[in-house]
Amino acid sequence: MKILITGANGMLAKEVREKFEKGNDIIATDVAELDITNEKMVYDFITKLKPEYIINCAAYTAVDKAEDNYELADKINGDGPTNLAKAAKSAGSKLVHISTDYVFGGDLDVSKDYKEDDEKKPVTVYGKTKLHGEEGIIANTEDYYIFRTAWLYGVGGNNFVKTMTKLGTTREEVNVVSDQHGSPTYAKDLSNIIYQAIEKKIPYGIYNATNEGYTTWYDFTKQIFADQGIKCKVNPVTTEEYIEMMKITQAKRPLNSQMSKEKLHECGISVPDWKDGLKRYLEEAKNMEN
Ligand SMILES: NC(=O)c1ccc[n+]([C@@H]2O[C@H](COP(=O)([O-])OP(=O)(O)OC[C@H]3O[C@@H](n4cnc5c(N)ncnc54)[C@H](O)[C@@H]3O)[C@@H](O)[C@H]2O)c1
Repeated sequence: MKILITGANGMLAKEVREKFEKGNDIIATDVAELDITNEKMVYDFITKLKPEYIINCAAYTAVDKAEDNYELADKINGDGPTNLAKAAKSAGSKLVHISTDYVFGGDLDVSKDYKEDDEKKPVTVYGKTKLHGEEGIIANTEDYYIFRTAWLYGVGGNNFVKTMTKLGTTREEVNVVSDQHGSPTYAKDLSNIIYQAIEKKIPYGIYNATNEGYTTWYDFTKQIFADQGIKCKVNPVTTEEYIEMMKITQAKRPLNSQMSKEKLHECGISVPDWKDGLKRYLEEAKNMEN
């Protein structure tokens, strides 16, 4: 299969490339080769290439910076996927796109989780621009998969696990937010979900796609330390306390990022637990150091 990967230098893209490499013809581009905000360039490139699949891993992912950069974030997260969808439709390509739990309000009671069709009411610039991207795709093509993920980490980028591991080995204690709930998601497991979806030809549409199980950043940190024998003490703090302590301003964080994977399960797609994903990630990260 001919597969175009956009945003190919990113964290998730690294895993997607690896997963699809065998037996497929991969064309990997990042902003230098194919700027997804350039409608004409995208159209010309894709209608000439005619890939069977386009996997869009390009995005503006700096959630806090986005608050002051609406225009640029919206160009990349909103116009970009819209351009890809228009070109995909003309070229007869199927489009795979990655979105986020930030399209929801994040204020749902934490005893519940978000279903794909729940009300969208993003409260951050990042979330609003990602929702624009989803809408642009839906309006312009029928043959698409949108996978909404959250709390993503992988070996190809800076991530929470790396940061906490470093802090845990240099400090005696750390304060970590305990009132945000979600599913840490290993980029390799997300790329595997995408792979299974394509292989099984599941129905087109939107799917929640994170690792299984729910936790908090606090409990996630405790697990990161336990798995590596790190003795650092972890103190739970609320989001409000954290902002106060660190003297930072940041985009509003969703307190509830929990997304149900029922729809993926119904399509026969297996999704590993987040603790299992973390163990395999730590193993991979260790092997890369040696
Ligand atoms: N990181 C997370 O916690 C998280 C959570 C939810 C959803 N997501 C989504 O997952 C996807 C992958 O995220 P990631 O963390 O791997 O991203 P990343 O920031 O590691 O990579 C994004 C890539 O997009 C490229 N890019 C930026 N502008 C471009 C343009 N105009 N044209 C082409 N390429 C461009 C960048 O150069 C970079 O290589 C994104 O859609 C993101 O919104 C991420």
